[in-house]
Amino acid sequence: THDPLPAPLPEPLPALPLDRPAGCPFDPPAELGPLRDQRPLTRLTYPDGHVGWLVTGYAATRAVLADRRFSSRYELAHFPLPGLEEFDELPPATVGDMTGMDAPEHTRFRRLLAGRFTVRRMRLLTERVEQVTAEHLDAMAAHGPEVDLVGAFAHPVPAVMICELLGVPYADRDRFQGRAATVMDVTATVEDRGTAMTELAGYLAELVAAKRAEPTDDLLSDLTPSDLTDEELAGVGSFLLQAGLDTTANMIALGTFALLGDPGQRAALHADPARAVEELLRHLTIAHTGLRAAVADVELDGQLIRAGESVTISVQAANRDPRRFADPDRLDLTRDATGHLSFGHGIHQCLGQQLARVELRVALPALFARFPTLRLAVPPGDVPVRPGHQNIHGVDRLPVTWDQD
Ligand code: HEM
Repeated sequence: THDPLPAPLPEPLPALPLDRPAGCPFDPPAELGPLRDQRPLTRLTYPDGHVGWLVTGYAATRAVLADRRFSSRYELAHFPLPGLEEFDELPPATVGDMTGMDAPEHTRFRRLLAGRFTVRRMRLLTERVEQVTAEHLDAMAAHGPEVDLVGAFAHPVPAVMICELLGVPYADRDRFQGRAATVMDVTATVEDRGTAMTELAGYLAELVAAKRAEPTDDLLSDLTPSDLTDEELAGVGSFLLQAGLDTTANMIALGTFALLGDPGQRAALHADPARAVEELLRHLTIAHTGLRAAVADVELDGQLIRAGESVTISVQAANRDPRRFADPDRLDLTRDATGHLSFGHGIHQCLGQQLARVELRVALPALFARFPTLRLAVPPGDVPVRPGHQNIHGVDRLPVTWDQD
């Protein structure tokens, strides 16, 4: 008898699939499912010609995110998204951008901040989230149909909350909102992103100086006695502001869009908002793709990832892995979706996740309770869905209407 011949190695995937299916902005790109089911870890050709890896399976994704041999430093990674050649050389993380740091540099920031974002502290904010939510729903009702739900509700509620937490005056929003959006926009030029980042840090630097002179009751003031330099404090402040602005807003807007198309799920949202929100987070996976680079040789799934090779993580594919979640493509707000990777995993797991949870658990049920006849004001296909290569998936506008009583 002969040993069976080893199966030929599959050709590297020529490009990362990015486009969500036409007409269904809630599902991952169609190519990812079959790929994950056959090759949960596969080779990928990057736009600059580098041949690295793509992880789509749940178990492999968790393993990569938990393993310090995969660095988060941007400058070590090749950029996987096609059509954005400007990113062929990624600059290192700007001061205070924790997602682009490795331990021990990362640990220093994380230790200072972790205690500020605990479950307990964030639960204490629930009442304030309820107030801010109610104020915005009142304003929507007073305005009357129709409104853009992003501008009227999904964006301002988390924005007010992150501003209050940090001690950034929401009234200054003209100075930070547009710039924070540019920083996150992968279609903006590297130059424009850099300028926006510098200006945002400049604004935060002014605030930090003011807090040093006259501390107030907020996170930025509380950190002024830490060993962070002014530049680091302004940097981490602008990073937190940015992280708190775009993410939860897109979850509220895209979550509402999904529920408007699937009214049967509403009862489950009201019955157990906490459970429902985890399922929406899993199903929609708005932070869909992660970037890492191996800094040592690592054996994973029977394959050898060599030091220096980039690893792209498709969190949206991992969260739909049938080996982890039964009937994964079904949105089912009654399922137990815990274990999803929408907030990441490992040392970089989202610092703001408890805040985001409180906001989502309050905002979504309150919206549907207040406007039981809420519906899209345009055909679903006319909602401006973000293109697949944006960092954070979502909608930039959601025109809605309702029956006035
Ligand atoms: C990190 C998702 C809301 C602050 C992350 C990561 C993900 C994520 C996937 C890990 C990135 C990586 O591994 O490289 C989300 C989602 C949100 C959300 C889906 C909303 C639903 C927030 C909010 C804040 C925040 C409201 C506000 C403080 C952060 C910070 C990090 C982070 C500071 C970096 C943590 C570190 O590197 O140690 N987030 N996030 N996030 N998030 Fe969030």
